[in-house]
Amino acid sequence: MRKVVWFLAVLVVVGLLGWAQAGTPLVLDKPSSLADISLKVFGDSAYAPAIMRATNSKALVDHSFARISRLDEILPAGAKLWVPDAAWAKAFLAVWDPNRVEDLFGGGKLVVGSWWTAGGEAEGLEALFALYRESFPDVVIVNATVAGGAGFVFKAVLKPRLIAGDPPDTFQLHAGLEVEGYSPEVYLRPLDDLYAIFGWDKVFPPDLLDLMRYEGHYWGVPVNIHRSNVLWYNKEIFARYGLKPPANWDEFFQICEVLKEKGIVPITLANAGGWEAPHLFETILASTLTPEEYRGLWTGTTPWTHPGVTQALEILKKMLDYVNPDYSAHTWDTVLEYIAAGRGAMNVMGDWAMGWFMAKGVDVGWAPVPGTKGVFVALSDTFAFPKRASNPINVIGWLAVCGSKEGQIAFNMRKGSIPARTDITPEEKAQFNPYLQSCMEDWARDAIVPSVMHGAAAPESWVVDFKDAINLFLVTKDVAGTQAALVAAAKAALGK
Ligand code: GAL
Repeated sequence: MRKVVWFLAVLVVVGLLGWAQAGTPLVLDKPSSLADISLKVFGDSAYAPAIMRATNSKALVDHSFARISRLDEILPAGAKLWVPDAAWAKAFLAVWDPNRVEDLFGGGKLVVGSWWTAGGEAEGLEALFALYRESFPDVVIVNATVAGGAGFVFKAVLKPRLIAGDPPDTFQLHAGLEVEGYSPEVYLRPLDDLYAIFGWDKVFPPDLLDLMRYEGHYWGVPVNIHRSNVLWYNKEIFARYGLKPPANWDEFFQICEVLKEKGIVPITLANAGGWEAPHLFETILASTLTPEEYRGLWTGTTPWTHPGVTQALEILKKMLDYVNPDYSAHTWDTVLEYIAAGRGAMNVMGDWAMGWFMAKGVDVGWAPVPGTKGVFVALSDTFAFPKRASNPINVIGWLAVCGSKEGQIAFNMRKGSIPARTDITPEEKAQFNPYLQSCMEDWARDAIVPSVMHGAAAPESWVVDFKDAINLFLVTKDVAGTQAALVAAAKAALGK
């Protein structure tokens, strides 16, 4: 009896520590069935399959563990088992289909779909993989990336795979209305039970939880918070010409004039993916409208005929006089080379750019996009769980790593984003670079508005219309015509 109490105590502690040690070894002192062990450890014999799976997983990499071939096997005294963490065991039971006996033998793959291939993105993803491998070394991770920032290429590849019943085991999904485009009730597994088991409904901020809930369910586990409205600048160029980061658009264009004269690209732009200029535009909208008005664009309370929209288009139009002419050949990351090499002075991009600068060892300056101090245009990356995942049991540990404190710290300090979890301590915060620490402070005090280009504000069909209107604008520079197209896109989406 004492032994059992001790084991339970260990399990509780392990549960709090996170995922690097998701279990406890147990050496049997007498022959026992898995049901008996489950009853002793968890107070319920139903967890026997979870213990079988966890032990077989261990045995694949450490031969001192027992290999169990049947659920009703009587294991001899001296057999060494791996008793999984209580949360994982519960999640196992919630996910496991008793017809899938193969899931009890360990190993297999975990196919992770994302578009994280650029500097900072790849490092962040690898940090999550490293943590996953620590707990599940028997599983082979397949890094199924499809390159292309903001995921427009990835999403186009993923949809037919989902429909055909051949999805990756888990995939990157922006928090918010993006999920609508995947018909989640048909293709995705609702995660409400896993939220309760892992306590995610307690550790993520209420606003994010609201954003995550679609049709009353959670469909992804958030791994971060990104900010879209950041102005990055080359510190050395700014120091050389005695410039300060611009607080408003007048100051911004004055700086542009100075730099143009010096032969430096004032504001670098990419648009090879067709989303980068629309991304810039959403951040300008956040500067010409109040947070309330900006939010209202997506809910129907702010008309798209608003003068703030006209003004935002005028600003973008003027900006085009100061950008690199080869912008349509650049992706968000390749254009940052301009800043790194001192050939370009400023860039507007989400803070995955900080991940890129960190990966390249570039010391860069940052400020909110002019006119957006106190406003945080936010988005969040999550991982979803397709109903037809081929390796469902391996997904549990992945989502647990994504949602864990350990995972969020390791990932975000490389990715250039901040943990979505609200329980980061001051000591943990201190491990992040100064930009990310300041971002955490802004996230806590700024007005939060949703990013449209990264899935938070609007459904995919509207995002695409918005994107198309701005792409055409780059060519026509027709303010009135583009505003009319934006009005029409809103009407199509909202029905008014
Ligand atoms: C965003 C995504 C970020 C980052 C960026 C560029 O949509 O949320 O994590 O990867 O695209 O690829």
